[in-house]
Amino acid sequence: MAPSAPRTGIGIDIGGSGIKAAPVDLEQGTFLVERLKTATPRPATPEAVAEVVADLAASFPEHVSESAPLGVTFPAVIQHGVARSAANVDPSWVGADAEKLLSEATGRAVGVVNDADAAAVAEHRYGAARGVRGVALLTTLGTGIGTALLVDGRLVPNTEFGHLEIDGYDAETRAASSVQDREGLSYEQWARERLQRYYDEVERLLWPDLIVVGGGVSRIADRFLPYLDLNAPIVPAELRNTAGIVGAACLAVERFGPARTGGAPQPST
Ligand code: BGC
Repeated sequence: MAPSAPRTGIGIDIGGSGIKAAPVDLEQGTFLVERLKTATPRPATPEAVAEVVADLAASFPEHVSESAPLGVTFPAVIQHGVARSAANVDPSWVGADAEKLLSEATGRAVGVVNDADAAAVAEHRYGAARGVRGVALLTTLGTGIGTALLVDGRLVPNTEFGHLEIDGYDAETRAASSVQDREGLSYEQWARERLQRYYDEVERLLWPDLIVVGGGVSRIADRFLPYLDLNAPIVPAELRNTAGIVGAACLAVERFGPARTGGAPQPST
């Protein structure tokens, strides 16, 4: 049976190396089919990225209707649809109206959201922060450090605590998982020397009730989380690499409503 429109959306995750897309079952927080991935164009200018996004958004006609809204994650500050920073992406994005650009390219209503914010929404609806009250902080450890703050499940958008200045450094340049690779640190060294300092500072400023760790390394969280000694419980994300896509789709459907006309097309027989 084809899913009905209110339960489905499309999510696209724009990252430094790949752009990934999947139709999402919003009841379950899962992909309806395996995601598609395209290499991020080089240079990753807004126009070049928009072309890839348009192709990917049109790739699931049997799962989502033409009018279903599209949720997109982007690894920078996104204020009311406009990119405001570009720590690890092409600088030409700064000031670009990402929502306008992508809705013109795809012909859909598009909601663009910071990548960590999208992941946090998904973890709160379906994963490690499910139903958590109080202050939950999600941190994604990857090329940089993304952060997202939820207060009783409500997102405070665009927190950029990955860029806290700690000991004179931009924190992500000392504690992101790319730094562990680059400097050849063991998981124990990375945790004890870099993450402990980072999370101590974050706790001192925010006093979260729960910390969720996302990003690729959340798969192997048992190699470094046990070395951390913090006040709040710190747990790995549960949705792993689906969180951004699921969260973005969720936010887009909440914002724009489901598809405008009678649901997803029936599969052809
Ligand atoms: C950016 C954030 C982003 C994070 C993870 C940081 O460098 O400033 O906006 O969420 O990387 O991609």
